[in-house]
Amino acid sequence: MASRQVTVFGGSGFIGRYLVKRLADDGWRIVIAVRDPEAAHFLKPLGDVGQIVAIPVDVGDKQAVRNAVAGSSAAVNLVGILYERGRQTFARTHVEAARHIAEAAADEGCGRLVHISAIGASATSPAAYARSKAAAEANVAQAFPGATILRPSIVFGPEDGFFNLFARMAVVSPVLPLFGGGMTRFQPVHVCDVASAIDRCLDTSASVGTTYELGGPTVYTFSQLMQIVVRETRRRCLLLALPYGVASLMAAFLQFLPVPPLTPDQVRLMKIDNVAGGGLPGLKDLGINPTAAEVVVPTYLARYRRGGLRGRPKFC
Ligand SMILES: NC(=O)c1ccc[n+]([C@@H]2O[C@H](COP(=O)([O-])OP(=O)(O)OC[C@H]3O[C@@H](n4cnc5c(N)ncnc54)[C@H](OP(=O)(O)O)[C@@H]3O)[C@@H](O)[C@H]2O)c1
Repeated sequence: MASRQVTVFGGSGFIGRYLVKRLADDGWRIVIAVRDPEAAHFLKPLGDVGQIVAIPVDVGDKQAVRNAVAGSSAAVNLVGILYERGRQTFARTHVEAARHIAEAAADEGCGRLVHISAIGASATSPAAYARSKAAAEANVAQAFPGATILRPSIVFGPEDGFFNLFARMAVVSPVLPLFGGGMTRFQPVHVCDVASAIDRCLDTSASVGTTYELGGPTVYTFSQLMQIVVRETRRRCLLLALPYGVASLMAAFLQFLPVPPLTPDQVRLMKIDNVAGGGLPGLKDLGINPTAAEVVVPTYLARYRRGGLRGRPKFC
């Protein structure tokens, strides 16, 4: 078993880029396992020469996953999808992949495995996304009982898919939708805090076999989050309550776009509060003081103002 080498599945994604930077600063050698290693090359300058390598791995390929963890003392699974497309189904990309990674990590002698799930993961959820996250957690716990499972609420940061989506809508549309009246609650967590949590779990024996829920310091309703978007983009947008039935109907069409902004499954997910339940440990138990969305979100939504500068990603 090599020392301080970690394989990060999904390391080129939104959370991955912040994690890779954090791990590189901590002296880890990092193997980024993604389908498209070219898309991960921008991460190489974050470390010393040879400290960060990207290799082609599809997590549905058991042998490729095994090769990717060979020689690593730890593994992190950040692979996730929000909607299904072709071979990228929840069953394959969440459930089977989690089993492939956990089994390979166990067999190849990785000391630590951190698996990123999501708040709301539940076998009884009405949303297929959340059910697949629960099934993935079960596979991980079975194959690698000492794994740490992290369940973030929505994650915010300069490249996030949530605030940026609605800010882009605020630029082109006179209305922003309040799905189901906008009363569903969220606890946005800063991407740097999620990266710090993963980094700490890799080195903290107390996190072995533990599940954490990662939420920020404040719980907001969806309506309050849309108010932040309107305020920080300085766009004149009406917040319009949209019954879930109408949202589902829209999603039935939007799901066929190449990158759908809304799917019927996401509408089902949006009916359920996305906040830490309080029964599981969280960021504070890992010694991390959560960052407020209202401190960071304005710094990158400013680029959507008229004449706003295009923000550049900042690493933490
Ligand atoms: N962002 C959030 O608000 C949020 C909230 C809760 C939970 N989470 C969870 O946190 C994790 C990371 O989220 P993220 O926002 O960083 O996701 P992301 O930006 O979409 O990144 C996903 C990563 O997975 C890789 N990937 C996708 N399919 C793959 C496959 N079949 N084989 C190998 N690699 C594959 C992608 O690279 P390639 O396409 O090049 O393969 C990419 O590096 C996910 O599990 C997500 O469900 C995220």
